[in-house]
This record gives sequence, structure tokens and C-alpha cells, in this order.
Amino acid sequence: MLKINNLHARVEDKEILKGINLTVNAGEVHAIMGPNGSGKSTLASVIAGKEDFEVTEGEVILDKENLEDVSPEDRAHKGVFLSFQYPVEIPGVSVTNFMKTAINESRKAKGLEDMPAKDMLKLIREKSELLEIDRKFLSRSLNEGFSGGEKKRNEIFQMAMLEPKLAILDETDSGLDIDALRVVANGVNKLKTKDNAVIVITHYQRLLEYIVPDFIHVLHDGKIVKSGTKELALELEEKGYDWLKNEAVVK
Ligand SMILES: Nc1ncnc2c1ncn2[C@@H]1O[C@H](COP(=O)(O)OP(=O)(O)OP(=O)(O)O)[C@@H](O)[C@H]1O
Ligand SMILES: [Mg+2]
Repeated sequence: MLKINNLHARVEDKEILKGINLTVNAGEVHAIMGPNGSGKSTLASVIAGKEDFEVTEGEVILDKENLEDVSPEDRAHKGVFLSFQYPVEIPGVSVTNFMKTAINESRKAKGLEDMPAKDMLKLIREKSELLEIDRKFLSRSLNEGFSGGEKKRNEIFQMAMLEPKLAILDETDSGLDIDALRVVANGVNKLKTKDNAVIVITHYQRLLEYIVPDFIHVLHDGKIVKSGTKELALELEEKGYDWLKNEAVVK
């Protein structure tokens, strides 16, 4: 589904990604870990097509299509979902209305008409029940006064509604408490199918006890220096990241 080849990216004069190779197949969950500043959020932004970063070498391929000239909006319409590390507040726009607009925008891009109100309500009901989201929450203004956990819940709700092909969840800096970790984990687990894939960026070994990724990758100084299965997270918890610096040199 997603194939990243020798990806280099920079912001201004600073090279941040220094040759990333990553393959994500449908049905898989990948976790990306690594120290602060190693380039995890940058990688997520580059996959989503954010224009602050310049790709200097390599490619991002989604379903055999090179995304080089595809705008962030079109990537979203092709099924790439990136959670916002710092979500915007939109006073006066409810969670429900925001979702209606997002869904209809995405349908429009595919040449479809607006989803009939009845179907929309059904979908909202289904997904909010699946994720155990309180009705009252859906009528609140988007992100206004939301706690960290509520923002996460909202993000997972967006993901559930949009049914992305590839979801990238960047958990960094968000100060997740144990409830928010569960919200994210339950959401990912319940929405997982054989046709979609998820990349979770996290510092929390604990999250990976709930989600259980198929693969874990460690990013260090803009490169993936180690990949493994879930046991790698335990090893990292125990040993930290320092020992991997040497691996980076060896490679
Ligand atoms: N817009 C920008 N302008 C300048 N430098 C940037 C910009 N965005 C990212 N960087 C730099 O790129 C490096 C990687 O940042 P990135 O946010 O990808 O790290 P991260 O692995 O997500 O870290 P964390 O775990 O703290 O979230 C950092 O040194 C950061 O300062
Ligand atoms: Mg980050």
C-alpha cells in the first residue's frame, strides 16, 4: 500500500530525513518510535504532503502512485489521514458539523453527491457507538475547551468516520493519560481491517501493549536504524535509545 524509498527531506537548509525506506502493507499496524527530534513528525508530514518540507530525494508511493505532485488535500481524498498533533479549535462549529463537511468534501472530490442526511446520521450513530462516544460530545464546538483525552477521542472519531486507507497517528507531545491511551488503542483496534493500515508514532511502550503493532521502527537522526516486532518496544523501554546510535554508524 505505502512504499517509501530513500526519502530525504529538509526544511530550510536543514536535512531532517536522511534516507528513509519503509513498506506498509494493507492490514498492518506499524509503530514508529525514536528520540525527540529524530524526524518522526516530519516523516508523517511528508507522507501527508505538507508543504513546509522539501523532498530532495526519494519517493513516497501510495498504491503504486508516486505522490510527488499530489497536494495534501488530494492525498487525504486518496485515503491518507494524519492526526493533528496540535488540533485547531473552531468555535461555533460542532464536532458533527465538522465531520459532515469533511465527509462531503471527500465525496465531492470523488465526484459523488453529498451524503443524504439520513445516512449521515446513521453513520455518526454507528461510529460513535463503536467508539463509545457520548452524544453530548458530538454537539460541542470542535476542540474548544477539549481536554487532551477528548481531543484524542475526537481524532479517532474523525478517523472512524473517514475510514482512511492509511491512518497516521502522531501521539508525540500530547501528554496522553492512560484513558487517552485506551481511546487511541481501542479506536485503532476496532477500526483495523485487512484493507487499511495504521502508522502510530509514539513514545509509549504502554500504548503498544494495547495496540500490538506488526512492526516497530526506530528513527534516529532521520534514518530508520532498527526495525523489529513488538519485542523491540520492550527492549527500548529497558535500554533506551542510546545503544542504537552505534547501529546507525554501523549501517
Ligand atoms: N518547520 C521547521 N523548521 C525548522 N526545523 C524544523 C521544522 N520542523 C521540524 N524541524 C526540526 O526537525 C527535527 C525533527 O523534528 P520532528 O518534529 O520531526 O521530530 P520528532 O521525532 O517528531 O520529535 P518529538 O519526539 O519531539 O515529537 C528537529 O530538530 C526539529 O527542530
Ligand atoms: Mg513529533
